[in-house]
Amino acid sequence: MSYQTEYDHSMQDPESFWRKQAQALDWFKFPEHILTTADDGQGSWFSDGEMNTAYMALDHHVNEGRGDQLALIFDSPVTQTKTSYTYSELTRVVALTAGMLANLGVVKGDRVIIYMPMIPEAVIAMLAVARLGAIHSVVFGGFAPPELAVRIDDATPKVILSASCGIEIKRIVEYAPLLNRAIELASHKPLSCVIYQRPQCIAPLLEGRDYDWNALLSCAHTVDCTPVKGSDPLYILYTSGTTGKPKGVVRENAGHAVALKYSMDAIYNVAPGDVFWASSDVGWVVGHSYIVYAPLLQGCTTIVYEGKPIMTPDAGALWRVCAEYGVKALFTAPTAFRAVKKEDPEGLLMKQYDLSKLQTIFSAGERLDAPTEEWLNHMSGKPVIDHWWQTETGWAITANLRGVEPLPIKMGSSTKPVPGFNVQILDEQGVEQARGTQGYIAIKLPLPPSCLNKVWGDEDKFRESYLTFLPGYYTSGDGGYIDEEGYVFVMGRVDDVINVAGHRLSTGEIEEVIATHPAIAECAVIARDDELKGQTPMGLVVLKTGATLSEIELHQQLLKNIRETIGAITCYKDTVVLSRLPKTRSGKTLRKTLCNIVNGREYTVPSTIDDTGVIPEIIEVLRSKKIIS
Ligand code: COA
Ligand code: AMP
Repeated sequence: MSYQTEYDHSMQDPESFWRKQAQALDWFKFPEHILTTADDGQGSWFSDGEMNTAYMALDHHVNEGRGDQLALIFDSPVTQTKTSYTYSELTRVVALTAGMLANLGVVKGDRVIIYMPMIPEAVIAMLAVARLGAIHSVVFGGFAPPELAVRIDDATPKVILSASCGIEIKRIVEYAPLLNRAIELASHKPLSCVIYQRPQCIAPLLEGRDYDWNALLSCAHTVDCTPVKGSDPLYILYTSGTTGKPKGVVRENAGHAVALKYSMDAIYNVAPGDVFWASSDVGWVVGHSYIVYAPLLQGCTTIVYEGKPIMTPDAGALWRVCAEYGVKALFTAPTAFRAVKKEDPEGLLMKQYDLSKLQTIFSAGERLDAPTEEWLNHMSGKPVIDHWWQTETGWAITANLRGVEPLPIKMGSSTKPVPGFNVQILDEQGVEQARGTQGYIAIKLPLPPSCLNKVWGDEDKFRESYLTFLPGYYTSGDGGYIDEEGYVFVMGRVDDVINVAGHRLSTGEIEEVIATHPAIAECAVIARDDELKGQTPMGLVVLKTGATLSEIELHQQLLKNIRETIGAITCYKDTVVLSRLPKTRSGKTLRKTLCNIVNGREYTVPSTIDDTGVIPEIIEVLRSKKIIS
């Protein structure tokens, strides 16, 4: 089958295309309605099907005779631990954990927040919630209490599942103080918290609210899967938008399962029994889709890795895991490869491992820069596949379909639209741009299965945020172009979202924290290019009259506030004090111009601002600090 035939089928007859993909799954009742389209073009997939995602991912394989095959391998260099679960073992522990949650009153439709490190219990928790037809919301363990509090208030969970600690290389991150502070800050209070005690640190339990995970599990009974409708939510995952408040992306059960199962064949070219490793965190969408659901829906073995690509213990970590478990497809973010390249430029550590089973290396989360791609391809001898996607879609929008027809790789491009995604480049009037011309990357409605249809708790937010700007299309928030051969080049965000080490952050949210400092009159946060992390946030600030503290003192205080409010992953690096910010007549700060100046790129300045002398003033300050030359 050629890529084009496959893609055309998905465009010309989406219902027959996706019906066929849905048949690969084990439904309780196969859907009669494949696609239901609303007046504005938005689609809903498989809404009347009956199913359970955890059943499809676990029980199904046991029923098919794959119970003894490994489902999950846990590898933790930071605790020197390795364990594994067969499909039978994982199914049983998930059913038991679901029983534990049922004893706490969790029923279909209830929300459960999971705030955990990268341990098997995090995956077990997600699947147990899904087994009950409840809705999980995983919050990345690196988020600070106020971020967790916002999510508690929005998702209003009945139960929070957590652990006593996470381990950051050698540093023990105690979760209890973070969890307690978040619950204190939130207006909504969960009925119970269940804490998985790790030997590295035992958390104190709050009488009447907290329970010991293992103690509860020991008196729980296994429960069966609760059937849900295809359109019922499986999870809510919060992601940064242009405003300070994160958006709760709602993932429906059926579209998600169908798209992910399809992706394992079509994009990743892995079969049941193959070992698939997404080196990410379950707190991110990559973790949801490709550590947990997709590998298990496909009957693969997935790897839960508690470590870093470097420092645990060295830059050979990725290759050690691939060799030890016979990984066939590796998926991680460009930052990880850049870190490895920096520490092991000659690939000497890589060469120590037998990577003969590794077939393909996949990259996403940020643009894969050509030097990193070339280095990785040269050192490993494997195809390096960049693919572009978002929390909102849950799977790749553009990719090289390795399981359909591997296309020639073009540096800088994430190849072509994945079947189901009608990708177009438009200007702000919605006019399609010629090949090679940059514009907004938009997706014509209806979106394919797995993409969001809702933002949790706000009926209008989905349409306002994604469908209003270019009617009839989903606005991705990214800009780029399509070349003569139909290859898509994603050039970066066109909104106020920045990407730090593959993590999506809102500049608006960082600005909100900076603005609360008593010495700050106003500020703008922009993305500064970073060799390792892709981008890091830089604060350009104007002080209140009379403020006396030095720039270094101010930076230290802002850094502390940002780490305590959002989290260390923000990687806030620079603060620059300016006497004023460039603004349009309507008072909008010219963030894009500032960003271009800081990164030494070409910039334009509206003539009204040209006359004020503010830009030369800023350039002078940036030069004096050697930020630009
Ligand atoms: N809990 C608590 N803190 C965390 C955390 C977690 N789960 N994850 C990260 N942090 C902290 C780190 O300890 C670090 O704190 P520090 O500033 O006090 O040292 C900070 O957040 C930044 O972390 P990180 O971005 O991981 O930087 P690093 O310098 O420790 O490691 C890399 C550099 C390149 C190894 C790392 O960024 C990396 O592995 N990147 C790949 C990212 C990735 O997989 N993204 C997935 C998206 S697909
Ligand atoms: P997230 O929702 O956290 O997965 O972040 C999605 C954003 O990351 C996208 O909108 C892009 O800006 C960026 N992104 C993800 N993958 C790629 C890629 N392969 N190339 C360029 N940008 C990417």
